[in-house]
Amino acid sequence: MIETSTGQRTLEVSLGERSYPIHIGPGLLGEPDALAPWLAGRQVMVVTNEVVAPLYLERCRASLPADAEVRELVLPDGEATKTLESVSRIWNALLEAGFNRRCTLVALGGGVIGDMVGFAAACYQRGVAFIQVPTTLLSQVDSSVGGKTGVNHTLGKNMIGAFWQPRAVLIDTETLVTLPAREFSAGLAEVIKYGLIRDADFLGWLEGAMADLRALAPAALIRAIECSCTLKAQIVAEDETEQGVRALLNLGHTFGHAIEAHQGYGKWLHGEAVGAGMLMAAELSARLGWLDESGVSRVRNILAAAGLPLSAPADMSVEDFLVRMRLDKKNIDSRLRLILLRALGDACLSDETTPEQLDALIEAFPRA
Ligand code: NAD
Ligand code: GLY
Repeated sequence: MIETSTGQRTLEVSLGERSYPIHIGPGLLGEPDALAPWLAGRQVMVVTNEVVAPLYLERCRASLPADAEVRELVLPDGEATKTLESVSRIWNALLEAGFNRRCTLVALGGGVIGDMVGFAAACYQRGVAFIQVPTTLLSQVDSSVGGKTGVNHTLGKNMIGAFWQPRAVLIDTETLVTLPAREFSAGLAEVIKYGLIRDADFLGWLEGAMADLRALAPAALIRAIECSCTLKAQIVAEDETEQGVRALLNLGHTFGHAIEAHQGYGKWLHGEAVGAGMLMAAELSARLGWLDESGVSRVRNILAAAGLPLSAPADMSVEDFLVRMRLDKKNIDSRLRLILLRALGDACLSDETTPEQLDALIEAFPRA
């Protein structure tokens, strides 16, 4: 990690010749030429959405070289737009602009934009460069790092996609000032996730820092983002294509994806669904005898302090969960595999849960 006197940090995702930097700091977006080092050529397509464009597109333009051939595409907002149709719009715009294999896509926005733009880049002319400029907390600590790209299918979340790494990730922490509080809380779910799966010290720090984080205290924010990105970068470097340890990053996601898909994408925020899912995973871990009640209480309390839901949707039956969970990408030969907690800070991939234990957990979990 490199630290400058202005409080900026630079980390690296180490993937051999595909290694790339993560720059973190206040006010990075808008710095002249901030994006210039990672452009593959002069052709640049900035893709953003209708909410982010009025806030940050101008600053993004200012960070590109004056001689770049810049096109902009502003998509509708929302998880419901994370579809192949939206990705086709990106490909159409690239083709209409006559962009070649040395073009660069810039993903300016949250995880929805980042996932779609990354997938568009992975496929356009069999793969072109892209840069992540994440503007939500969730995308800054998770989705912009690690190269998972893709879109949703009506039968499952993120079911169509590719691994395709960005050239760089530029995290301007000042963009969080305009983020709605509910979206910020959703991002905190992924921050808490890192502590739960891999770093009990970080979890302990987060428990004390939650009020500062929700007040956007700059030092707390930078530390939370830096620790999260460091942990994610380590895991991605160990296991880029999720053959092993990377699956742990899906703590709470199997339950969470079921909630999102059942409710219709966008009703529950991804991070909210993951938050409730992590509590379900913690409670299941307790049923297996791995966590004690005080461990489950710590999970519940930190999620509550982050402003996240502690219950599942009122209208979701056990079968509603199971139908969706059976589609999960971690399952092998129809065996349901879940990320559970052996202890706080120590997650594992487990197929030890019996159908009866899972049914009982889902049945007993609170609804609201
Ligand atoms: P999002 O992209 O929908 O952004 C949330 C909302 O905030 C949107 O309305 C957006 O327009 C708005 N917004 C973005 N930046 C803003 C800002 N600075 N100020 C004001 N409003 C702003 O949602 P998200 O939570 O960023 O990302 C969720 C998506 O990320 C999901 O599709 C999820 O599957 C995906 N994801 C991917 C990975 C991965 O590894 N690729 C990891 C986690 C989540
Ligand atoms: N968000 C899960 C992963 O990147 O693997």
